[in-house]
Amino acid sequence: MREIFPGSARLGTADPLPGQPGAADQPGDLIDELAARYAYPDRLWVRANMIMSVDGAGAVAGRSGGLSGVADRLVFSVLRSLADVILVGAGTARAENYGRARPGNLWPRLRAGRAVTPPIAVLTRRLDLDLRGRLLGDDAAGDDLARPIILTTRAAPAAKVTAAAKVADVIVGTDDMSPAAAIDALAGLGHKKILTEGGPTLLGQLVTAGLLDELCLTVSPVLEGAQATRIIAAPSLPPGQAGLRLAMVLEDAGFLLTRYVRAGS
Ligand SMILES: NC(=O)c1ccc[n+]([C@@H]2O[C@H](COP(=O)([O-])OP(=O)(O)OC[C@H]3O[C@@H](n4cnc5c(N)ncnc54)[C@H](OP(=O)(O)O)[C@@H]3O)[C@@H](O)[C@H]2O)c1
Repeated sequence: MREIFPGSARLGTADPLPGQPGAADQPGDLIDELAARYAYPDRLWVRANMIMSVDGAGAVAGRSGGLSGVADRLVFSVLRSLADVILVGAGTARAENYGRARPGNLWPRLRAGRAVTPPIAVLTRRLDLDLRGRLLGDDAAGDDLARPIILTTRAAPAAKVTAAAKVADVIVGTDDMSPAAAIDALAGLGHKKILTEGGPTLLGQLVTAGLLDELCLTVSPVLEGAQATRIIAAPSLPPGQAGLRLAMVLEDAGFLLTRYVRAGS
């Protein structure tokens, strides 16, 4: 992996990332280097991590995993290790069959003084989530994996709220859980370093509300055509909300790992 913006210094190892091993097998100095480059500021900060094809597709056959590669998975893991909480919309939790975050080999050091893993927080109106699945089921608990958080609304069926409260911390907002209310609720639990992994509906709401501080966007070296969804599902964005400043670009095996922050910050 090499940096192509803003400087020309190489990252961690002089060699490109090998093609096969997963993030847990990567050398510690490279992970430390990435952790330093992606360090959160010491204040409430909302970061999104998304991936798209060169022509803007956010999913292949309904999931984003088909766009990913070794370097993207490595950065995905490092970003999770740095976060206090991982926020996703229920559409993503369902489509990607979300489970609880599991620690990588170097997480104990990267998360020293904090919980072993960050909780997954799911935003949902309908609370149509599998209570026996990888995130909320009995088998998902244990091993110090963080208890999930459900951010829902009064529209959710009461029986589902009661059932979910047995396996997750459930926060019920008003008739709609605005993105600001969701972020406030997470901050109220002490989670200042917020990582959202989408999806497009949630990301569109965060951008529209002016709540997104940073977008980490991987550009995958493939073309997917026009059938796929994009990374933001909002018909239009308010003027002035969408300006970004490029903060960093890494390259690995044709993948671009970009980091944009809100313009002016
Ligand atoms: N390219 C990438 O990086 C990336 C990342 C993530 C996901 N994806 C892809 O995106 C697709 C899913 O997209 P999506 O837009 O449906 O996902 P999403 O944004 O994760 O989820 C939308 C759902 O979130 C809930 N929600 C959103 N806003 C809410 C609010 N204000 N209050 C309460 N609940 C709210 C609703 O859940 P309920 O329906 O339960 O009420 C809504 O249906 C999948 O294909 C996935 O693979 C791509």
